[in-house]
Amino acid sequence: MENTLKPMDAEQLREYGHKMVDFIADYYKSIESFPVLSQVKPGYLKELLPDSAPNHPESLQDVFEDIRQKIIPGITHWQSPEYFAYYPSNSSTAGFLGEMLSAGFNIVGFSWVTSPAATELEVIVLDWLAKMLKLPDQFFSAGQGGGVIQGTASEAVLVVLLAARDKILRKVGKKSLEKLVVYASDQTHSALQKACQIAGIVQDNFRVLKADRNSNYSLCPEVALEAISNDLSAGLIPFFLCATVGTTSSAAVDPLSELGKLSKAYGMWFHVDAAYAGSACICPEYRHYIDGVEEADSFGMNAHKWFLTNFDCSLLWVKDQRPLVQSLSTNPEFLKNKASQENAVVDFKDWQIPLGRRFRSLKLWMVLRLYGLENLQSYIRNHINLAEQFEQLIKTDSRFEVVSPRNFSLVCFRLLPAFDDHDNGYKLNYNLLDAVNASGKIFISHTVLSGNFVLRFAVGAPLTEEKHIKEAWKVLQDHATTLLRSI
Ligand SMILES: Cc1ncc(COP(=O)(O)O)c(C=O)c1O
Repeated sequence: MENTLKPMDAEQLREYGHKMVDFIADYYKSIESFPVLSQVKPGYLKELLPDSAPNHPESLQDVFEDIRQKIIPGITHWQSPEYFAYYPSNSSTAGFLGEMLSAGFNIVGFSWVTSPAATELEVIVLDWLAKMLKLPDQFFSAGQGGGVIQGTASEAVLVVLLAARDKILRKVGKKSLEKLVVYASDQTHSALQKACQIAGIVQDNFRVLKADRNSNYSLCPEVALEAISNDLSAGLIPFFLCATVGTTSSAAVDPLSELGKLSKAYGMWFHVDAAYAGSACICPEYRHYIDGVEEADSFGMNAHKWFLTNFDCSLLWVKDQRPLVQSLSTNPEFLKNKASQENAVVDFKDWQIPLGRRFRSLKLWMVLRLYGLENLQSYIRNHINLAEQFEQLIKTDSRFEVVSPRNFSLVCFRLLPAFDDHDNGYKLNYNLLDAVNASGKIFISHTVLSGNFVLRFAVGAPLTEEKHIKEAWKVLQDHATTLLRSI
């Protein structure tokens, strides 16, 4: 039988593509009508879909119907204006168009030769961003350093940890792997722990240093110094320190300057994870949060969090790309080509874990071009203002407390327990979280700070306005009233 399948027919793409764009635009128009947090039960979809793929083609109309009836109920609406959980993951028209174009070209840009524009645009937009963030010159592509797009901040910290590990092992000998020690505060994202596991760092040599209420959950250089000194006395080798600007629990900021100097003094690699808060540092008034980045060997920020660039797009800069390439480069015959052999180009396959890579710089380029720096700055400022407003609302209600100083657009708060509450408000706040999220009206998340169950309200969805903040506050107040009445 003749094969009639035309998998990429330009006219079909035009017709279906228009329908899909209409569908997505309608989704955004009606996004507030859905429960923000999906309310389905585990395994719901298996009940709704057949056990095997169809033998014959189905219509796009039928697929749309299933998306409406079966898929959307299982979606948690990260782009809803009432989404305040975790940290945001922004979409935007510009980011979406960039994703579309990337899907359209569908290139795999592991080496320069596989699509020169993909590599070269990535180098250029990362230099643009480095300029917006006022990163030190060494992070620009003109010298030994430069930027690269990773899938996630987890991949970013893994690749620099591998580079740092191999760099120190070249100096002290491969047999010393089990003596290598990594330092970070207990507020550091678990991505670092995972990276240590993958990199073969002995579990006991990952120093999770206490950062408590007294330092607003930032890592004290004295605490780091003490740990480093103890390890040196024990014959261990400190080699990697990770600081965070905008920790995941409470958006705390580690003191980069002091920690960076300490790292330098002990010959350690200093990585700065600004996955969420890095975006704010394009505003002159927030740039000081990354003062001290001059001391860093590597710096990361997720454009896919708070920078209107659709997931995934994690930016990583290094001052010296050589250790990265030394750790991650392979040069099989089937990938050899003139430009690479002549060292005339960057091959980003040597800066990351996988070989294949998407044309992700397109969406960041679209965001920068269609919005421009000033709009991006106002966007960030607006979210921070809205978070400030939410913080003020909490302060008007004596049943609640703001738990840690607000940084950027994250507010950490809780419902105050009665003085004789046996778990100091743990269950009370857990129940409040559960109730507001089950209402479908808003979605917030939680953390634990100094043993207390704390609610996190992160402003950052692209459609959030003042009225959504007020509505969210009312939802929280109403559920708190019901909860307190039932005790
Ligand atoms: C400070 C920080 N670092 C790293 C991560 C991990 O990000 P990713 O999902 O890109 O690996 C997060 C996620 O929220 C984060 O807040």
